Amino acid sequence: MNPEGYELRKTADGKGDGVFATRTFKVGELVMVGVIERRVNENHSHATQVSPFGYVQLGGLGSKANHSCDPNCGIRLNEAEAPNLIARRNILAGEEITFDYAMRNYSIEHFPSRCRCSASNCRGTVTGWKDLPAASKVAYDGFVAPYLIEIDRVALLHGRMSGVAGTSSSHPPKAVGGLTEHRKII
Ligand SMILES: C[S@@+](CC[C@H](N)C(=O)[O-])C[C@H]1O[C@@H](n2cnc3c(N)ncnc32)[C@H](O)[C@@H]1O
Ligand SMILES: [Zn+2]
Repeated sequence: MNPEGYELRKTADGKGDGVFATRTFKVGELVMVGVIERRVNENHSHATQVSPFGYVQLGGLGSKANHSCDPNCGIRLNEAEAPNLIARRNILAGEEITFDYAMRNYSIEHFPSRCRCSASNCRGTVTGWKDLPAASKVAYDGFVAPYLIEIDRVALLHGRMSGVAGTSSSHPPKAVGGLTEHRKII
């Protein structure tokens, strides 16, 4: 058992491996610390977004947390710009630790066609921030990577909004193009 309070197990619902709590976590508590293994040049199936145009491969069990459309964790970037997982509700020992991949990635590509999260509000497929319904964006307030909020803010200023029909690009809107470093926009 991992002394940090989680361990890797096989999921029972076809998602492969997943991370499971071995103790309780209180809402707001740090559950997992994100660790960057290496920077990668572009978005791909194992890439984690860490800024408007920056992608990394995570190390450790952080890379094994599965997606849920009703997740018990959210994202907060740490000093290394890696995504920590923070409990967005109380978590019991034995529960799978999940977050919504849309809390971290603007665009999700190369993903299984069906989401297997089993949540009552499951979206059916795993989508990124750009396709996340507005109500979910509101529900995730405080648990989302700040560059996603900034991409929406800049897009709105320029008359384009992610998640709105007709804006199906898998890249952040061009309006954010001048912002190449995360620290320029937070
Ligand atoms: C970051 S990995 C998570 C760990 C992975 N389950 C494993 O065994 O290595 C992401 C992969 O897990 C699976 N996965 C995660 N969440 C899922 C979900 N809600 N529905 C279906 N597959 C999921 C997909 O195969 C996806 O490509
Ligand atoms: Zn789902």
